[in-house]
Amino acid sequence: MLHSNLSVNNAGHLVIGSSDVVELAIKYGTPLYIVDEDRIRENCRKYKDAIAKFLAPGSAVLYAGKALCYTGVYKIMVQEGLCADIVSAGELYTALRAGFPAEKMYFHGNSKPDDEIEYAIDVGVGHFVVDSLEELEKIDQYAGRKKTKQKIFLRLTPDIDTHTHRKISTGVLDCKFGTPIVTGQAEELVRTTLQKKNILLDGLHCHVGSQIFSEEPYLQCAEVMVDFIADIYRKIGWLPAYLDMGGGFGVRYTENDPEVNYEKMIENIGATLSALCSDRGIPIPALLLEPGRSIVGDAGITVYRVTGVKEIPHCNNYVAIDGGMTDNPRYTLYGAKYTMLLANKAKKIADYKCAVAGRCCESGDLLGEDVAIQHPVKGDLLAVLTTGAYNYSMASNYNRIPRPAMVAVCGGEDHLAVRRESYEDLLAMDTL
Ligand code: LLP
Repeated sequence: MLHSNLSVNNAGHLVIGSSDVVELAIKYGTPLYIVDEDRIRENCRKYKDAIAKFLAPGSAVLYAGKALCYTGVYKIMVQEGLCADIVSAGELYTALRAGFPAEKMYFHGNSKPDDEIEYAIDVGVGHFVVDSLEELEKIDQYAGRKKTKQKIFLRLTPDIDTHTHRKISTGVLDCKFGTPIVTGQAEELVRTTLQKKNILLDGLHCHVGSQIFSEEPYLQCAEVMVDFIADIYRKIGWLPAYLDMGGGFGVRYTENDPEVNYEKMIENIGATLSALCSDRGIPIPALLLEPGRSIVGDAGITVYRVTGVKEIPHCNNYVAIDGGMTDNPRYTLYGAKYTMLLANKAKKIADYKCAVAGRCCESGDLLGEDVAIQHPVKGDLLAVLTTGAYNYSMASNYNRIPRPAMVAVCGGEDHLAVRRESYEDLLAMDTL
């Protein structure tokens, strides 16, 4: 199957880890997110092992919780010894409540509200990844008030085009994130930062985009960053202890996507970084990576109940399901392609071409078009694969649809990780 944690059992049912997907759908209801926590741990260890093997001491992996954020995932990160990339006080709060140490968190984001900056300093967040001068000044001023020195990185834009989807390409010059190098603004910001009394600048950050299969943009980016570091070092004698190159390694959604060897990519990025640093005559900084999708993407699937099948002559066959863009907006937003199958007929031939229709009042609410699945009837269970990243975390209540439950599987056992929203939950914030 698409991922090694998926298989089909003798009953012809899809299996994730060692758990029968049809049984889980009956036990917990649909739509249902299923997350294979063993797979998440396996992915964490791949990163940790590669980093220990190929990168300079002090290098680390930061799990980017924007991909999948619930209390249980941070408990795993605590046990696996990862750091965390958080992007809002909401993610920070979730991680803290899970027992994740604030010191190991890196607070990202291009537009951090003042109250969130204060909250993060109050709880002792390890680093801010600072995006702008205004943010820098706010942190300096509040850290001063609290009589503390706050560690930060500066986020720079290396001006690298990754050719991924425009909406998830983040390293180009004309972009809302970071401070550009080519315009001279990054140098100016480093100089300003070094003057701030309550700030300790110990790293630089860049992130070129997401769902990237080639190491090329990372190698180009390493060169831009090392050149910048060498230039700054010559001019003012400052060196970063850390270079954070963000996340973005791609994940296989369909058989057409390549298999990615993360270990090899990390080895090559590390080797290029060392060669560049020795060529430019600077010490090698510790390298940080911030994977989100490649830690949780292939650990998740979503199961829906088929509610009906509509065949329009000379047009599409529409297979309607009990979820859609509210639990997975990625086809609507990016035209993202997925592999789908009927979990209760997984051994049958998948030769039924269709569009998979969500339940929202919106024609764009599809999970895919030109999808081939087994012949469907009302009541079947449709499984969408590789939904561990950016599904639950991007879910909404559009059309007042409650968010699905998420069940975690682990060594053949299952437990509820996030309970299904109720109608009462939908009203919980209304003042009647
Ligand atoms: N670090 C930074 C600064 C980021 O902005 C991101 C993702 C990551 C790390 C993690 O990237 P990953 O390893 O997951 O590719 N909603 C979109 C993806 C948005 C990515 C945002 N930033 C999607 O569904 O494809």
